[in-house]
Amino acid sequence: MITITPLHPLFAAEMTGVDLRTPPDAALVRQIDDAMDRFSVLVVRDQRLDDDQQMAFAKAMGPLETTRGVIDGHLHRLKHAEMIDISNLDTDDSIMRTDDRRRMFNLGNHLWHSDSSFKATPAKHSMLHARVIPPEGGNTEFADMRAAWDALPEATQKLIEPMVCDHSLIYSRGLLGFDEFTEQERETFAPVPQRLVRRHAGSGRRSIYLSAHIGTVHGWQRPEGLCLIRDLTEHATQREFVYSHTWRLHDLVIWDNRCTMHRARPFDDRRYQRDMRRLTLEDTAPTLAQPA
Ligand code: OGA
Ligand code: MN
Repeated sequence: MITITPLHPLFAAEMTGVDLRTPPDAALVRQIDDAMDRFSVLVVRDQRLDDDQQMAFAKAMGPLETTRGVIDGHLHRLKHAEMIDISNLDTDDSIMRTDDRRRMFNLGNHLWHSDSSFKATPAKHSMLHARVIPPEGGNTEFADMRAAWDALPEATQKLIEPMVCDHSLIYSRGLLGFDEFTEQERETFAPVPQRLVRRHAGSGRRSIYLSAHIGTVHGWQRPEGLCLIRDLTEHATQREFVYSHTWRLHDLVIWDNRCTMHRARPFDDRRYQRDMRRLTLEDTAPTLAQPA
C-alpha cells in the first residue's frame, strides 16, 4: 500500500510502499507527479538504487537534463553523463583536497538556489539519492516559494509580478568570493533571463522564482535590484517556510525547482565522505516562454 504523509505544515511529504528499483508504471508515475504538484518535496526512504536504476526511474518520470553546470576539466566520476556528482569526492573516490577548485565551486550549493535557473530552460524536478552520508550535519533545507508568494503584501506582489532577472553561475559563485572563471567558463555561464514570478503548471499557484544565481533585475540599477532580491530571499526563507531534511542512507528526495529553493548545510567534509547523486528533469521551456 502506498502512503503519503506530510512532513511540514505547508509542503513536503514522505511516500512509503514503493520500490523504485523497478521503473514505475504509468499509474505510479501519475501518483508521484500528483504528490509532487501538491507537496513540492517528496521523500522516499530505503531505496537501494544503483546508478542504472536511478537513471531508469528518472527517465520514466520525464525528459532529463543532459548538461552539467560544472567547472572542471577533470574526468566525470560517475558512469552516466547526465548524473550530477553531489559529493566531496575526487575522481579516484578520495576526499577532495581542501583547496580544490571544484570544492570551492560546489560550496555555492550552500546558498539558497533553484537548480539550473542559470540555464535557458531550467530544471523541473531534481532527484537526489544518498549513497554515503556523514555521521552528522549535511542536511538539505527546502523553502516553499508558493507559500512565500501567498504571504507577500499585495503591493509587493504587484511590484514584482512583471519582473525579469538574469541568472548565472558566475553571480552565485561571486557571492562567495569565487570569481576566477576562465573565458570559456564565462561564455558557458553567460546570464539567462527568467521571470521572477511564475505560475506553477501542476497546481495553478504562483511562486517566487528566486535563486542565488540572480545577478540583475531587468530595468533596475544592479544594487537596487539586488537589495530587493535579498529582501525577498530573506522573506521566503523564514523558518516557517522551511523543511530541513536529515538524510538517511538510501533516501531519495525529489523536489520541484519551479516552486522551491534549497541549500546544503555544512558537515565535516575534510573528514567524512558524503556521496549524493542527482538526476534532473528539464522544464518545458524558458520561463519567459511559459504562461505568466
Ligand atoms: C543539489 C543540491 C544540496 C545538498 O543536489 O542540487 O543543491 O545538500 N544539494 O547536497
Ligand atoms: Mn541544488
